[in-house]
Order: sequence, then C-alpha cells, then structure tokens
Amino acid sequence: MIRYRKLGYVELNVSDLARSRAFYEEMVGLQLVDEGPGFVRFRCDSDPYSVVLHQAPAPGYKCAGLMLEDERQFDVLHERLRAAKVAFEELPPDACAHKWAKRITRMVEPYSGATLEFYVLAPDAPRPAFQPTHTKIQRIGHIVFTTPQSTESTRFFLDVLNFRASDAVGEFITFMRPFPSPYHHGLGVARGPRPLFHHLNLMVTEFDDIGRGLNRCNRMGAPIVFGPGRHVASGSAFLYYLDPDGITLEYSFGMEEFPEVNPRPPNVLPPKPESIDTWGAPQDPRFATIGEIERRVIETARA
Ligand SMILES: [Fe+2]
Repeated sequence: MIRYRKLGYVELNVSDLARSRAFYEEMVGLQLVDEGPGFVRFRCDSDPYSVVLHQAPAPGYKCAGLMLEDERQFDVLHERLRAAKVAFEELPPDACAHKWAKRITRMVEPYSGATLEFYVLAPDAPRPAFQPTHTKIQRIGHIVFTTPQSTESTRFFLDVLNFRASDAVGEFITFMRPFPSPYHHGLGVARGPRPLFHHLNLMVTEFDDIGRGLNRCNRMGAPIVFGPGRHVASGSAFLYYLDPDGITLEYSFGMEEFPEVNPRPPNVLPPKPESIDTWGAPQDPRFATIGEIERRVIETARA
C-alpha cells in the first residue's frame, strides 16, 4: 500500500504570466518564492513552494505533486504501476533539484489525462514559514478533475494509487484522500463531458478569510462563481472565484478529518444541489469551465 503525506504542489498553465502573478500574489494571497523563464512559484505553507504558474497558450492544469511518506514508497508505487501497466518515468537529478525534491516519479492518470508527480523533498529543501498578507492560507487543500470516465478514474485512484473514498455525490463526484492524509479530500473526480481541470482549493485558517475574500473579489473584480456556501460532504464553508484566465479557485474553511485506523465509511449523498451546498448559493455558468489538462505522453515504464 502506497503511503502519502499529502497533495504537495499544483502547477497551472496561464496565458499571461505577469497578470496572473500579480493576481495570485495580491488577490489570492500566495507568497512569491522565485521566478524563472516562463514560470513563477509561490508558497502558502512551510514547503519550498505549493503553486507554480507556467506561461502557456492554453490555461489550465499542468501537473500536481503528491508527497510520499518516505523514499520506500517509490518501490511500492512502481510495483503498483507496473501491475496496472501504466507507464511512468523517474525524473533526472537536475529536474528533481529544480523542484527541491530528492526523487520524483511521473505518470499520467489514464482516464483524466492528468500528469501526477510522486516525490519526497530533498533533505536540504528550504522550509521557511509562510508569511501571510491578507489571508491566512493553511495549505493547498485539493484539486478536482472532470472526465467522462469518472468511474474508471476513481477506481484507478482507489485501487492502484491507494486513495480512500471519503464521500460521493451520486455518480457525479467522488472525494478521496491520499492515504493516510487525514483531510476529507485531497482530490475529487467528477463526471463531465470532457477531461477538464475543475478547480484548485486553498484551505484558510479563519472563517473571516472567507468573508474578507468575498469583499476583496468584489473590490478587485474577480468574478465570484459559487458561494459563499457550505459543502455537505466535508462540512467546509467555501467561496469559488475566477483567476484572470477563468480558472476556478476556491477558498475553504474547515474540513472533516479522518483517522488512519477505523475511519467512518464513505457516504453516497443524493445527486441534488442541496448535497453540494446547504446555503443555496447560485452557481455562475462560468464555474469550472476553463482548465485544459495539458497532455503529456510517457512512453515506457522505466526504473
Ligand atoms: Fe473544492
């Protein structure tokens, strides 16, 4: 069984890096770490970085990093991927060093097309404290993909990658946690007409961060596309808004935590709007409509 620490980083493609850099720093409240040709990195906890933006023609998802519990997990992971006949590659040392990782294995989830990177941090990776500006962001909380093959994708995360189901809303979305991360979900897989990056969630420390975020969105012209509201499954209060490309971002406050041993079984909630939001917030038609999943081809299993 693969053991994880958490969802560690998310890399997004944006069409205007300078514009998005300002937005993610000033509106979202991430802390700039560094920048290089075509990319900018931000932090929101004590990791070297948590969010990376890349200049690219199609805004959306590039990849995400799942932090493994320790280096021994690579053997388990590789064995699981070989058994499932899923190609993977180990990144060369210079690519790992650039990401402050000791080691990284990369694969493409077959049913959403999402690139995933499994890593452990390098021992000398910087771990400075996050310096919040207006929003006390705790961590990146989760990412959600949509795909027409959501059943197959969900099974892949559960059976091959050892995620655990926390809850589902009918056949439409399943919320999962990378075992044994306690938070209700680090990942959601939803049914949709085509593979799409649905949203990136940032968990905040105070309920006031949600209210301040709402007013800041309105002040800075970021469209609020859903919320404020409260999710039934995780119990979190939420606010969804759009980045300059129209990618959906979420602040959320509060989330159910699961113990590693004897967690409650997952619930399947009826597929109706009240199962998503108990406050009855309207949903803007632009909600979760922009987010191309960058396609990467990994030819053969290596290592
Ligand atoms: Fe969410």
